[in-house]
Order: sequence, then C-alpha cells, then structure tokens
Amino acid sequence: MKIVTVIPGDGIGPEVVESALRVLEALGTDLAPDVLDHVNAGTYRREGTALSEADFARIAASSATLLGAVGDPSLEHTDYVRSVLLRLRLGFDLYANYRPVRLWHDRLSPLRDAAHRGIDCAIVRENTEGLYSGVGGAVHPSSPWETAIDADVSTHHGVSRILDFAFSVARHRVCMVDKANAVRSGGSLWQRCWEAAAGRHPGVAASHLYIDAAAMRLVTDPGSFEVIVTNNSYGDILSDLAAALAGGIGLAPSASLNGTTGFGLFEPVHGTAPDIAGTGTANPLGAILSAALLLEHLGYDDEARAVRLAVGGAVAAGRVTPDLGGTLGTADATAAVLAAL
Ligand code: NAD
Ligand code: IPM
Ligand code: MN
Repeated sequence: MKIVTVIPGDGIGPEVVESALRVLEALGTDLAPDVLDHVNAGTYRREGTALSEADFARIAASSATLLGAVGDPSLEHTDYVRSVLLRLRLGFDLYANYRPVRLWHDRLSPLRDAAHRGIDCAIVRENTEGLYSGVGGAVHPSSPWETAIDADVSTHHGVSRILDFAFSVARHRVCMVDKANAVRSGGSLWQRCWEAAAGRHPGVAASHLYIDAAAMRLVTDPGSFEVIVTNNSYGDILSDLAAALAGGIGLAPSASLNGTTGFGLFEPVHGTAPDIAGTGTANPLGAILSAALLLEHLGYDDEARAVRLAVGGAVAAGRVTPDLGGTLGTADATAAVLAAL
C-alpha cells in the first residue's frame, strides 16, 4: 500500500480534490489517501500557521502529495500561501515544476487561425529559485523612502539541474527562455549553463528565445514548442498563458518534482478561484489530470492512460463545466469522466 497525502486547501481546492479522489478510488489501486484537511486558511487565521512540523513529517512519510489550491482573499497580504505552497516546494526541494499543456479538442482553442491552434508542449519551470527565493527585504518601511528588494536568485547548481531535467523529458527539442539581453548576472549564468547542458544532450535540438518573444510565439505558433524551460516567475506566467491556449486554466495539471528523491507534489495550475468557489461549477479536470501525473509518477502507467482517455472522451462529448463551454457542474463533469473510465 502506498500513502498519498492530500491537501484539499481552500476555495475550489476541496471541490476539485474530491473529484480527483473519486477517480483514484474508481481505479482500485493500492493507493491510500491520508487527508490533511486542516491545512487551510481557517487554521492559519486561528493559529498563525497552517502547515505544522507534524504535517510536514506526515507528508515526508508518504509516496506523493495531491494538493487542490491554497489562498484566501482575507489573507492576501500575509505569508499564508508562501508558508504552505512555497514551504512544500522548498522544503522538499521540488525543483522541477512540470506543466504539460495539450489542446484536448479543437473547439477549446481561443485562436482564430485553425492551422496554428495545436499545442502539445510542456513548460518546465525552475521551482526553488528566482524571485521566489525570499532573499531581500525593505528599508525605510512605511515611509516615502521605502525601498523593497527581492533578489532574483540563480545558482549554477539550480540552473544546471532544471536544464538537465528539461532535456530528460524532451524527445526532440527544448527551448530555453530568459531575458539575458537585460538581466545581467543571472542572464549570463543561464546562457552559460544552457550551452553546457545542450552539449550534454546532443540528441535534442536546443533553441533560445527571450521571454517577450516567447510569449508572442506561444500565441502565434504554439505548435512550434515541445519543451520550454525557464525560471520560476517566467514559468509561472507562461504556464497560465499556455493553459489559456489549451482551453483554460481549469484543465491544466502540474507536478513539482525532486529528481533525486523522487518525491512529488501534484496540483492543478489554477488557484482557489474565490469568484466561483461554492457554486459547484469548478472544472475538476485540472485536478483529475494532476492525479494522472501522480499515477504515472508512481508507476501506474495503465491507470494514468485510462484517466487521460476518459478525460479526452468527456471533453470530446462536451460533458464539461461552463469554463469549457459545457453546462455541467463539478459533480456531473466528474461523473462523465467516471462513466468514460
Ligand atoms: P485562480 O486560478 O484562482 O483564478 C483565476 C480565474 O480562473 C478565475 O476567474 C477563476 O474562476 C478561474 N478558474 C480557476 N480555476 C478554475 C477551475 N478549476 N474551473 C473554472 N474556473 C477556474 O487565480 P487567482 O484568482 O489569481 O488566485 C486566487 C487565489 O488562489 C489567490 O489567493 C492565489 O494566491 C491562489 N493561488 C493558489 C495556487 C495554488 O495553490 N497552487 C495557484 C494559483 C493561485
Ligand atoms: C502557481 C501559483 C503560485 C506560484 C502562487 C500561488 C504562489 O501561481 O502554482 O502557479 O506562483 O507558483
Ligand atoms: Mn501560477
């Protein structure tokens, strides 16, 4: 039996996690969920912390974690999201954020040009450094002279390992995205690590784009990408953009992985969607496809394939939530996947 820790979180998090758990349950594997349903905004408001050392140990003892989403409008200016999400990513050194994007059905594309709608790529996002490192601070706070500095940290170790990860998941081509024309030290480091990494992987075509041009190319010719590797914040932004090109953030999955320990955190790319939380209309497919990534990661390849086939069937039949043009609520959209399974 393998334990999967589950953090439903806030807003639509618990709603979509319930769907993913129903799909996992229907597969009849030996995976056993250990649900940490107190890791949420309510606990943070009451106790000033939401993820305790005991929770951390419970997660460390499990095979993988499935997370819905964390965040709450009343806690936007606190440390809450960082203290859960970034604590997990940094604490388990989950340096590779793998975000596959695929157009499941032509009608989901927002692009006018039918010949250039196809997208089937993966964003590989560095997940432990960059602007998320927490290095910096403010001087003269709350005065007209307040100056805030958040360092954009890139290490040779961190950049080299994410580039190698990107090559390891690519079949044909990797495009590295940075802003080396403007960002001095980090730009130079990424460029040199990139040349070295490309040299280590001669069988895969290596190309480069600046972030501004990459954003444009994603819209004008999304099919030209296979694997895009980039830093933490560019990866955050490009993954929402790419998700929108494939029908929306509601069906985008992600995996945060440590390539050495093998530990993984699996979560939809979207957040807690306070605007639709509680309405029963959240799209569960991002969470369900994240569960498919988890299955694959733990070696349940047939089950992962079955889940993706079922999602594809439900999408093709239009048995989906309003964000994908359907009329179903979360429960019925989940039932459609379960029926196709
Ligand atoms: P969001 O992803 O929650 O919502 C953006 C838009 O997409 C909203 O209009 C929302 O209704 C829609 N949307 C998102 N998921 C959907 C789904 N499954 N089905 C249908 N529509 C969906 O982003 P936001 O509004 O910027 O953030 C809200 C909160 O979530 C914030 O507190 C933020 O910090 C947090 N957040 C958490 C995570 C995470 O836990 N991994 C990720 C992103 C944002
Ligand atoms: C994501 C989210 C997080 C991020 C936020 C909530 C800190 O947007 O998982 O993409 O920026 O990594
Ligand atoms: Mn994001």
